[in-house]
Amino acid sequence: MRYLTAGESHGKGLVIIIDGPPSGLKITEEEITAYVAERQKGYGRGGRQKIERDRAEIISGVRFGKTIGSPVAVVIKNRDYVNWEGMMSVCPVRGNVIELNVPRPGHADLPGGIKYGHRDFRNVLERASARETAARVVAGAIAKKILSEMGIDILGYSAAIGGIKAKDHEGLSIDAVRKRIKDTDAKYGADLRYPDLKTAGVVKNRIDEALKEGDTLGGIVRVITTKIAPGIGDYTQWDRKLDAKIAAALMSIQAVKGVEFGAGFSCAALKGSAVHDRIYYSQKERHHRLTNNAGGFEGGMTNGEPVSVMAAVKPISTVKKGMDSVDVNTRKKTRTVYERSDVCAVPAASIIAEAVVAFELAREICASVGGSEMGRIKANYRNYLKQAKSY
Ligand SMILES: Cc1cc2nc3c(=O)[nH]c(=O)nc-3n(C[C@H](O)[C@H](O)[C@H](O)COP(=O)(O)O)c2cc1C
Repeated sequence: MRYLTAGESHGKGLVIIIDGPPSGLKITEEEITAYVAERQKGYGRGGRQKIERDRAEIISGVRFGKTIGSPVAVVIKNRDYVNWEGMMSVCPVRGNVIELNVPRPGHADLPGGIKYGHRDFRNVLERASARETAARVVAGAIAKKILSEMGIDILGYSAAIGGIKAKDHEGLSIDAVRKRIKDTDAKYGADLRYPDLKTAGVVKNRIDEALKEGDTLGGIVRVITTKIAPGIGDYTQWDRKLDAKIAAALMSIQAVKGVEFGAGFSCAALKGSAVHDRIYYSQKERHHRLTNNAGGFEGGMTNGEPVSVMAAVKPISTVKKGMDSVDVNTRKKTRTVYERSDVCAVPAASIIAEAVVAFELAREICASVGGSEMGRIKANYRNYLKQAKSY
């Protein structure tokens, strides 16, 4: 399985083609649309999300509610396009175009302009924008369905926002984290996807403060799964390592600046005996661990424990109060210009992270156990799991 996306942020819409999905997977436009809607939520997002109520339209690859094995193409129309037709028309007619000639520090504007020879940075930002991730979440919806067929659950959430870290969530089960997020969001009436009642109020205030100051915030997202069969991925070649594929997928999300599995960067300062997850054996659980500092990976393969990975999300680069930059036409020092933007996109980034990790896992499991049809893949996975347990 692989996918490609196309589409500009204020263009006609987004397109995704998912090539090589298994046949026989039950999936509906409503399910995909509901997941895509999750990405649009999040306390601290800009006005755009109120305009765009994304609807996923399946163009191909699904018949009578099931995938048929051919490429699945999905379109999400940009409702906002009606307001941008003059600026974004594909015809050789220019509307009343206001060019953006001042690159924003932290965005793709300047390197993208130099690379493609644009001085109107709209030609860069329209595609560099995280609006593109709406299409990637479609692939995530399909991947999550494949994983659930194999009894694997996955959850992405905000582990930290604006420098405030959620406490005591790392040892919890997926269901326990989900409950905490539900309670927190209900108490504060905000979609934070943040599992700590005690500090959620401070997080919300920090986002409000950043909004008032015309500034932005980042944070950390975490993705966890239930246990996965050991040996998915491979140690025998660098580009077959599944943790590396997941890291690349997470790094490809706009604004992500770092990835760590399990205890991650903190391992570097500890002794081996304090880090490595001791191996135990019991008749019921077979080979298992009591800790998960490895984040579910050893040698680029799943080790039978849950996957646990975090990604650092930098603050949004469109800062309302402006930042020093240069007008690339006049070469004069100036301040950046503000265009409607998010203040904090960490909760949304956690859904995108969940989607891309789900896709990498589903792809690898399908390839690993073999079979082009969901029933066969499911049976093969179950059989493989049985063999791994009896090892
Ligand atoms: C969910 C999400 C929403 C984002 N919204 C904005 C935004 O409104 N304004 C902005 O300047 N950057 C936003 N970003 C970040 C930029 O898209 C990103 O910084 C830019 O494309 C440059 O890529 P890089 O940060 O990966 O280097 C968002 C990122 C994510 C994940």
